[in-house]
Amino acid sequence: MTEPVTTTVTPAAAPPAPVPTLPEIPPLPAGYRLAELDDAADRAEIIDVDRWAFAYELSPEDEAAAVWELEPGRSVGVWDERDPARRRLAAVHSSFAFELPVPGGARLPTAGLTWVGVHPGHRRRGLARAMMTAHLVRSARRGEVVSALYAAETGIYGRYGYGVATQHATAKVGRGAALRDVPGAQDLLVELDRLDPQRHGEVLEGVHAAVVRPGWIRRGSAALRAGHLVDWPSARKDAESLRIAIVRTAAGEPRAYALFRRKESWSDAGQPEGTVKVRESVALDAAAARALWGTLTDLDLMASVHTGRLAVDDALLHLLTDLRGAQVRLHDGVWLRLLDVGAALAARRYAADVDVVLEVRDDLLGATSGRWHLVGSPAAATAGRTVAPAHLSLDVATLASAYLGGTSLAALAGAGLVTELAPGSLAAASTAFGWPTAPAMSWGF
Ligand SMILES: CC(C)(COP(=O)(O)OP(=O)(O)OC[C@H]1O[C@@H](n2cnc3c(N)ncnc32)[C@H](O)[C@@H]1OP(=O)(O)O)[C@@H](O)C(=O)NCCC(=O)NCCS
Repeated sequence: MTEPVTTTVTPAAAPPAPVPTLPEIPPLPAGYRLAELDDAADRAEIIDVDRWAFAYELSPEDEAAAVWELEPGRSVGVWDERDPARRRLAAVHSSFAFELPVPGGARLPTAGLTWVGVHPGHRRRGLARAMMTAHLVRSARRGEVVSALYAAETGIYGRYGYGVATQHATAKVGRGAALRDVPGAQDLLVELDRLDPQRHGEVLEGVHAAVVRPGWIRRGSAALRAGHLVDWPSARKDAESLRIAIVRTAAGEPRAYALFRRKESWSDAGQPEGTVKVRESVALDAAAARALWGTLTDLDLMASVHTGRLAVDDALLHLLTDLRGAQVRLHDGVWLRLLDVGAALAARRYAADVDVVLEVRDDLLGATSGRWHLVGSPAAATAGRTVAPAHLSLDVATLASAYLGGTSLAALAGAGLVTELAPGSLAAASTAFGWPTAPAMSWGF
């Protein structure tokens, strides 16, 4: 942990600025109507729009394996009623009631936005914008402090105030890649098995839930847990069914796992060139990580291991003696949208003492824009509106990018996204907003 650093100016007490109201849903073209959807009655239409939007078809085997994950009362769509005799659903979105762990360990009520799709026959008419405004307003009214999502395309969500709050790495590691030794790793036992959700689900979720990391959202419902373990027949593409590697102590305590599948392949010269594809890997300590990756990178007939989402500080990246050989790529992960800036700033803890006024711009949700006075430390934080002069100016998406400690305010300032209005305040606030553990999430929703 760094030494506490404090900004130089503590603003004078001032009356709080008036809190603006939430925005109106923008009007839709004539004949379209936004409405809450009925999870059961509208399910077939919801699925149909999703398939049109994402361009996929499920085989009968996939259909049999599918799990309905959406939560009742949280889906909203747009009906095309231009021809009353042919009323059809044209757009849909839904959300999960998540809890987002933030630096310091608090868990924020979070709307996990999902299933955003507009039928291609109705695109670019403002349907998504109307749904997104409805999502933000409904989530804020439910008391959710942030909205989180994974973006299908990176150009879509910035306009709604979302910023990239977690990043993840993926790596392609060659067979036999050298890994550093970790004391105790050789004493651990690694079991390899076909994935059996009944037998392995609890072990896997127990290890997953033991991770302490900002952004590490748990699969909170039975449906999400089941959905994560679905082994889509069409996704196998001639590979084996899903396998699990579980690392245990000699006493049987699970400390790490990976969900993966192998696919055999041979070169023209008859050399084995199989690949191991990892869906999710989680390790609770260095020895368990070493045992897990030591096993995955040493499977017979496999030439490479393709990781799933890795935190940018994942142990694998430091176990490898040749990082260059691992073909590491960086990706945007969870995008966050702050719905209640005061609650969000006060909920997290800070790596150093900080006393700063942030001028936040928000073109969509007036309720978050304005000046916020944050007083934070490793132990506590308060945040409220102020009319005192600001130290830093930034938009709400940029604040979301810094919020979990993954991207520094200084780095964002380097890209012109944060303006330092009071000299010295950027370095101090940047230090305070940092965190020893990188934010990450291991699974998609
Ligand atoms: C992305 C999608 C939801 C947009 O729906 P839409 O109803 O056409 O969007 P709107 O007409 O409301 O457009 C709103 C704004 O987003 C922009 N936009 C829409 N889709 C975009 C895309 N894929 N990339 C960049 N910008 C996009 C529009 O140009 C418009 O910009 P403006 O505010 O500057 O005018 C829709 O194209 C879709 O379903 N795509 C396939 C599935 C998908 O990617 N879903 C998102 C899952 S995370």
